[in-house]
Order: sequence, then structure tokens, then C-alpha cells
Amino acid sequence: MRILAGGTLVTPEGLRRGDLALDGGRIAGLAAHIEPGPGDEVEDVRGCWVFPGFIDAHTHLQCWTGMDWTADSFETGTRAAACGGTTCVVDYATADRGVTMDEALAEWHRRAESGAGCTANYGFHMAISEWGDDSAEQMRRMREAGVSSFKTYLAYDHLRLTDAETLRCLETVRDLDAVLCVHCENGDVVNELQRQVLERGVTGPEGHPLSRPAEAEADAVSRLLYLAQIAGARVNVVHLSTELGLLAVRAARARGQRGVFVETCPQYLTLDETRYLEGGEDGFAGAKYVMSPPLRAASDVRALRGAVLSGEVDSIATDHCSFNLAGQKERGKPELGGDFTKIPNGGPGIEHRPAVVATTFAGELGPRELCRLMSEGPARVFGLWPERGRLAVGAAADVCVWDPSARWVISAATQHQNVDYTPWEGFEAHGRAHLVYVGGELVARDGEPTGATPGQYVAR
Ligand code: URP
Ligand code: ZN
Ligand code: ZN
Repeated sequence: MRILAGGTLVTPEGLRRGDLALDGGRIAGLAAHIEPGPGDEVEDVRGCWVFPGFIDAHTHLQCWTGMDWTADSFETGTRAAACGGTTCVVDYATADRGVTMDEALAEWHRRAESGAGCTANYGFHMAISEWGDDSAEQMRRMREAGVSSFKTYLAYDHLRLTDAETLRCLETVRDLDAVLCVHCENGDVVNELQRQVLERGVTGPEGHPLSRPAEAEADAVSRLLYLAQIAGARVNVVHLSTELGLLAVRAARARGQRGVFVETCPQYLTLDETRYLEGGEDGFAGAKYVMSPPLRAASDVRALRGAVLSGEVDSIATDHCSFNLAGQKERGKPELGGDFTKIPNGGPGIEHRPAVVATTFAGELGPRELCRLMSEGPARVFGLWPERGRLAVGAAADVCVWDPSARWVISAATQHQNVDYTPWEGFEAHGRAHLVYVGGELVARDGEPTGATPGQYVAR
């Protein structure tokens, strides 16, 4: 048995000082004091917060996104996640057009099993890019295979469904008691504005946010929520980035709509649209922030931070979708034709989410709230609760021992994400994952992996 002794345990009932025992992949004890027996290992974690392992419910690992393969595989991505305190990811398996959900799920299992092992646990959502007569039946089979959440897009021509198809998908989600995650941007508006912005001669990364205005997000959020209301389905608005979108969520909740969940990401809580003007040595550093939705105005950042503090946000995930600047993002450079729409969309964050959130909300969010947003909340929305997302006897021994007194600096040179930059280069982090356990095995210590790879598929 392994005993984590003397920490502040972050439990659903509140904070309590005490010991936590891990045994056989489970939490075996939680008490003011647990007396070690012969052979038991004791870790002194006084001064630390002991969290149920953090859960990142929005990642794109080892994925073809229509433009390129993401830079992080399941092997590197789950290792980086664990180094930062995340013990479980829920990744978007994607059934591209012409591919069945069963085929996509089998392929995602193969990918996750193809490397040298996963450090953190992983589950899958199923992203649906077309609707046919047997889609509902395919979704039912996904549910049986432990995939209890789905995703559709309202933008990206190769992925998006029409409103009628989205409605049918929502009706199936309701019948399966599942949840639908939706990428909310008005795709027609984005396509037209991309054309107009390029026509005006704005070809660099600064064109990206001009082509994806806040209104395009708010329109799609509002439309989705009305469709969900008609269907009576539960929905998760992923990567919410704007105050206008938040107002649409508030309106739905104010009219009594149930099952409206909101996710946002560290980038929308800490970075704003001025980053697109960063320039850098080659004038192209803004490409680092080409993700959809784009970074927004400072007023949006303030509004979303307020929503986090007021409890309107259910989870903070990363949308980790990493591409290297060299060889990938640089595809939109002037010497290669100069077109911001050629820059692969997405950025890294799987490793740094807990530190960025804990640091920038220090003094505003305590350990209970950090737990709610990054472990308990996603566990409840995505069917991982009560097995995960809580410290309790019998729950999985996925644990993050967090040292709030640690000080360190985020840098691409020292990160474990398999990508050549981080949006938080030079960020002074307050607090760090000191010890991280997956299934009771120590997988990371002070931000460095131990080499253990106990990560497994988690059916939900
Ligand atoms: O730009 C992003 N976020 N790429 C990943 C796919 C998505 O839209 O979530
Ligand atoms: Zn998206
Ligand atoms: Zn995403």
C-alpha cells in the first residue's frame, strides 16, 4: 500500500487534512491518520493539496485534422498531460466522411495502443461528420462501447452537419442519455469572411480572427441551444471564447433549459487577440495562436473569467491540438503563398492547463473550485463520475499531489509536449504537480515522467 501522508485532501465534502492510501489501483483509505503496515510506502505530502487526478475532456491526439497530423501522439500527449497533473484525457475520435463510427473507434484504439504506452488514462468522444440512415444505430453501438459523448461541428466544410442533421443527432443523443459536444461557429459566415479578408490583402495570421468574429460564435451557440431545447438533449458548448456566446448560454439557462454545459480553455482565459500581432523574427509568430475559435478581445477574456468565478463554466479543458511552427504552421507563410487559412488550426496546452489556471486564478479559486473545474466537473458531465473525479474509498487511484508553493517557468525548451512552442513561454507558474499517480502508479514527479505507462482505455 502507498500512503500519502499529511496533505490537504480535496474531497467532494470539502477540504480535510489527512492521509490517503492507494492500493491495487484504488483509493483504499482516507482518514486523519492511516498507520502504515510493514512494506507500506509513505510519502510525506504536508503542505500539498491532494486532488483527484485532473481530467482533460477535450484533446486531439495523433489526429489528422484535414490539414496535417497533430504533433502529439497518444504516447507523447498523455505523458505531457501526466507531467502537468492530468491523469485522464477524453480525446475526439473522429469518423471522417465515408468512415463508420465503428471503424473510427477501432482506429483510435489502434492509435492509442500503437506507441510505447500511454501514461495517463484515455477515453473517447465520437465526432460525427455526416448523417445517414444508420447513424443513430452506430451511435447506439458507440454507447455500448463506452463512448457516451459525441461531437458535431457547425463550421469546417469537411466536418459540419446541417441544422436538420444536428437536430436528428440531438434527438439520438437524448434517446441514448448521452451528451453532444458542439463546435459553435457559423461556418457559412466564416467561409465568406475568409474570402473577404484575403481579398482585402490581409493574408497573415492577423486575418484569422477577422474571419471568425464573436458574432459567428454567438449565433452558433444560440442556434445550437435552441436545437437542443427542441430535442430535449444535453449539450456541452466546447471551447467557449466570447462574451456574446456566454450571453446566449445565459439566455438558455434563464428560460429554464436543462442540460446546458459550458467548457472553456486556458487560452481564452489568459491570452487575447493582440497576440496575432506578435510578429517575431519572421513576422509570423502570430501563427502560434491560429486556433478556432480565435483568441478574443480583452473584454471577452474578462467576461469568461467572471463566468468561471461565478460558477457558470462547468469545465476547463485544453482543446490540445498541437502543430509545430516549423514545417506545419509555417505553411501559411508569405513565401509559401501567404494565406492564413492554410495554417493548421490548434495549439498545445495539455501539460500546462493546471498550472496556468491555478496561477492566474490564485486568490480567486481555491482547491475545491480548481477540482470542480478540472476534475469533478468533467467527470460528472462525461460519465466518469463516481469512479473518477473524486477522492473516496473505492474510487480509481488517479491522484495529483499539488505543491502550491512551487515556482517554475513554462518553456518550450523544457516541456514534454512534442511541439516546438508553447503559447505560455516565460509564464511564471505558482504551483506544480509534485506527484502524479495513475491507477496507483507514480507516473510523474515534479514535472518529469517516471517512465511508467499504466494508462488504459476508460469506458464511460
Ligand atoms: O483550432 C482548433 N481548435 N482545432 C481543433 C479542432 C477544434 O475545433 O476543436
Ligand atoms: Zn472545435
Ligand atoms: Zn477541439
